[in-house]
Amino acid sequence: MRKEFIITSIILVLALAAIIILYPFLWWLSLVLLPFLILGLFDYFQESDNIRRNYPLFGRVTTFLEKERHVVQESLLLNRTEGKPFNWIQKEIVYKRAANVNKSQPFGTQIPYGEVGREWFVHSTYPAKEVNDDFRVTVGSSNCDKPYSASILNLAGMSYGSISKNATLALNGGAKIAGFAQNTGEGGFTPYHQEYGADIIFQIGTGYFGCRTEEGNFDPEKFNNIAVNEVVKMIEIKISQGAKPGFGAILPAKKNTEEIAKFRHVEKGTEILSPPYHSAFGNDEQMISFVEKLRKLSNGKPIGIKLCIGQKDEVEKMIRGFAEKQNYPDFISIDGAEGGSGAAHMESLHWAGLPIVEAVHFVHSTLTKYKLRDEITLIAAGKIISAFDIYRMLALGADACYSARGMMFALGCVQSLKCNLDTCPTGITTMVPSRVESLVVEDKKTKVANYHKNTIEAFKELLGSMGLENRKGIHKKYIFRRINETETKTYEEIFIKPSKE
Ligand SMILES: Cc1cc2nc3c(=O)[nH]c(=O)nc-3n(C[C@H](O)[C@H](O)[C@H](O)COP(=O)(O)O)c2cc1C
Repeated sequence: MRKEFIITSIILVLALAAIIILYPFLWWLSLVLLPFLILGLFDYFQESDNIRRNYPLFGRVTTFLEKERHVVQESLLLNRTEGKPFNWIQKEIVYKRAANVNKSQPFGTQIPYGEVGREWFVHSTYPAKEVNDDFRVTVGSSNCDKPYSASILNLAGMSYGSISKNATLALNGGAKIAGFAQNTGEGGFTPYHQEYGADIIFQIGTGYFGCRTEEGNFDPEKFNNIAVNEVVKMIEIKISQGAKPGFGAILPAKKNTEEIAKFRHVEKGTEILSPPYHSAFGNDEQMISFVEKLRKLSNGKPIGIKLCIGQKDEVEKMIRGFAEKQNYPDFISIDGAEGGSGAAHMESLHWAGLPIVEAVHFVHSTLTKYKLRDEITLIAAGKIISAFDIYRMLALGADACYSARGMMFALGCVQSLKCNLDTCPTGITTMVPSRVESLVVEDKKTKVANYHKNTIEAFKELLGSMGLENRKGIHKKYIFRRINETETKTYEEIFIKPSKE
C-alpha cells in the first residue's frame, strides 16, 4: 500500500493540476483534497505507527477505532448483559431509578440462570405485610463521643480533582436531599462539599491533601480546622483503594490547577505525589495512635480506616491487636479489588487485592472472632448498584455500603472509560470548563437523590418479599449461587460460618 499510495497521490496531483488549468473556477477542489494528501504524506514518513506507514491515510480508520474501541462497543455492539465493568442492565437500573421513571422491565430476565456464578435471592411464600426499618446504622465505638447515624448506602470517596466541581456539587445536593453521607475522597475538603449542607465523611490519604505541611506530612492544625466543621460527621483514613492497593498516585502538573492547589495545599502547576504508604504511621501500633490523635483533634468524631484486603495474616494480626489493646477505629471501610478509580496502574487495577464478597466475609469473621463485631462498623464498597447488591453485603456481615460508580451513573456517566484523560464526555471526571458546565447541578442533584431513595425503597421491597419485617432477618442462607451446571450453593455453604458467630 505504501507504493500504491505514492503512485495514486502523484496521479491525483497531476489530475488536479490538469482540472484546475482547464477549469480554473474549480480551484477550490485543491482545498478539499490537499489536506488529505498532506495527512497521507505525514503518515507515510512517520515512524511510530506501522499500520499508518503501510496504509497512509486509511490506517487512520484503524487508529480511530482502536482509540474509540470501548465507546463503539459500549454504544453500538454490546448486548444488555455484556458491558464491563458494568453491563447495560446494571446501568439501566441506575438510570431508571435516577430519572424516577418507568421502573419496571418487560418480558423476562436476560441473565441466564444456568450460568456458573449466577446468583439470586429466595423469597418467602408469605411476604411481609410491612417492613419497619429506618435503614440507618449508628457508627461509633465505645471510644467515640459523637456517633453518627449513617444511611445504609452512602457515597464513596471521589476526590475533587478526580471529579469536577459540578459533579461534586450535584453529589452534595443529592446527599442532602436523600439523607446520606458524601465522602470527600482524598483531594481535600472544598467549598463544594459544603454548598448544600450534606453530611460529610472527610477522607485523608497518603498525600494528606487539605491538611498537609509544606513537606507533604500530616498537619494537625489544618486537620483540626476541617474536622470540627459541623458538616463533617466522620473521618476516614485511606490506607488502600481496591483499584490500586499498595500503589501510589500522581496528580499530573496539568491537572494541578490554581483552585486544586489551593484546596489541596500544594504548589500550583507541579506534579504531586501520593506515596503508597503513610508518613504518619508505619505499623499497627502507630496507626492506632494516629486514630486516637485524629479522634482528639476532631473532638470525638468517628474515625475509620479504608482498605482493600491483601495479605490476610497481616489483617488478622491488626484486628487481634485492636482486641488486645482494646483500642481500635470506629469503622472499617472495605474496598473490593473490583473497585474503581480515576486513574490506576494496570497491574493493580486488574490483578491486585481481594474481591469484595470474600473480603467482607473475612473481615466480618475476624472481627467476630476477636469479639469486636459490635464495636466496629463495617462498610463495603465494590460495584454495589442494586438493592440485591446491598442485601449480599449485609448478609455477609457488612453494616452499610458505599457506592461511587453507581452514583456516577446517576450523574449521567456513560462508562466511556476516559476518567484519566480529562476528556470525560459527561463533565464528571474532567476539569475542562465547557464540559463541566454540561453537567447541570440542579437536575443531577435530584437524580442522585432519586437513585438513592428508589434503591432504598427497592431494598425495602426485597426484604418484604423475603418475609422479613426488618434487617434483622437478613441471612446468607437466602442467597444462592450456581457453582456448576447441575449444582447450586447458598452463601451460607460457600462462606462458612465463623466459629463464634
Ligand atoms: C473517579 C473515582 C475517583 C475515586 N477517588 C477515590 C478517592 O479519592 N479515595 C478513595 O478512597 N477511593 C476513591 N475511589 C474509589 C471509590 O471510593 C470506591 O471505593 C470504589 O470505586 C468502589 O466503589 P464502586 O464500585 O461503587 O465504584 C474513586 C473511584 C472513582 C471511580
